[in-house]
Amino acid sequence: MDTHRMSRRQFVGAASAGTFAAVASRTVPAFGNLGRNAGKLAMLGGQPVRAKPWPTWPVWDRSAEESVLTILRSGNWYRGQGKTVTQFEEAYAKLLGVKRCVCTFNGTNALLTAMHALDVGVGDEVIVSPYTFIATYNVLLNSAVLPVFADTDPETFQIDPDTIEERITERTRAIMPVHILGIPADMDRIMAIARKHNLVVIEDACQAWLAQWRGKCCGTIGDLGCFSFQNSKHLPCGEGGAVVGNDEELMDRIHSFHNCGRPYGSVKRTSSYPIIGTNRRMTEYQAAILLNQMQRLESDTARRWENGQYLTSQIKDIPGIIPCKLYEGTTRAVFHLYPFRYKKEQFNNAPRDKFLRALSAEGIPCSGGYGPQYSDGLIEDALTSKNFTRSFPKTRLDQYRNELNYPGNDQLCEEAVWIGQNMLLTGKQDMDDIADAIAKIYENRDKLA
Ligand SMILES: Cc1ncc(COP(=O)(O)O)c(C=O)c1O
Repeated sequence: MDTHRMSRRQFVGAASAGTFAAVASRTVPAFGNLGRNAGKLAMLGGQPVRAKPWPTWPVWDRSAEESVLTILRSGNWYRGQGKTVTQFEEAYAKLLGVKRCVCTFNGTNALLTAMHALDVGVGDEVIVSPYTFIATYNVLLNSAVLPVFADTDPETFQIDPDTIEERITERTRAIMPVHILGIPADMDRIMAIARKHNLVVIEDACQAWLAQWRGKCCGTIGDLGCFSFQNSKHLPCGEGGAVVGNDEELMDRIHSFHNCGRPYGSVKRTSSYPIIGTNRRMTEYQAAILLNQMQRLESDTARRWENGQYLTSQIKDIPGIIPCKLYEGTTRAVFHLYPFRYKKEQFNNAPRDKFLRALSAEGIPCSGGYGPQYSDGLIEDALTSKNFTRSFPKTRLDQYRNELNYPGNDQLCEEAVWIGQNMLLTGKQDMDDIADAIAKIYENRDKLA
């Protein structure tokens, strides 16, 4: 085979068929002609694989403007005077196939509300994935709850179920799986462990709208599920959140709690404020934007899923590129971020930062994702705070410090590469651009280090 005339597909085919080994026996194989992608890296002055811009996010039209203006002109801006939040709650619950939904003003407060409702609080321990947005850490740390991290499975980017049980103590109250990047965690294993040890499950589905595990939507499998509708999210309204669940009484309590403790449903009017509450109400404008955005959620989700799977098929055979493995129970991932791993050994030992810069220069925006946030000082700040020193024995906090050791997560933090969800709202040719750019960098790996 003339390797100088290989297209990416032929190259990938050759690599997977084993002929790559022969080619690779040269120190730096010359896949000299990748068609339009041949030649010098853009980072070094060559032509980028892609010059065309990617879709921007969020996306809206005139109909969104009208619905927000209608609320503005009505003067009924809060849910006590309008029906829009309730309408959205009903529509979102129906879409997810869950009995109830209560909106909050962001995902962080959805998680705090779920914890309160399930009586997870001061002095408790929660098993959680360290590979998550910092909000998941914050809700626990701010509540004087010890975040006991299970390790991350670098293959799936999700909490490693094999590392959960060994971390359960007599203080453990809940498991908080995070369907990170919009990819389902292994809910069969997590639910089985939770039931065995009598723990509640709060799903952090803040990145996983309409992701599915065995046909059920993420967020509807545990005791409660939480969502974020922040600006970057697939269902955005600037700031917003929701708690969903199937237990009517629990959801009544959540409704009451988020509305200053006012009576709601089975939370009866024994007084004006029968339970302790807070104010986490969503505004009518937020809900109007959400109802409008929801019209595109299913078609966008289907497109991200289809393009994500196609992209995986196009990059999986490039040496040193490992797409994220999906658990067998995954019926749909929604790819809030499309992830793969970069093995520098196959790229002439060029550090991941170099690869990220090279890929960005080729017109493919990307990032390295989360770092090992448990070693950033924030955990130690919490452990030495009044809240924690009063709520946990010193021996437990010392033991916890000694166990902050997560080899799977550390590995992933060094190898991960993320591509944004907006880039999956395109077509197959655009996915080819991403794959071509990666193959071009592989081809030029001798110039990277
Ligand atoms: C995994 C995860 N959990 C929680 C949150 C918190 O949501 P919010 O930003 O709406 O407060 C986010 C938001 O990015 C998230 O990604």
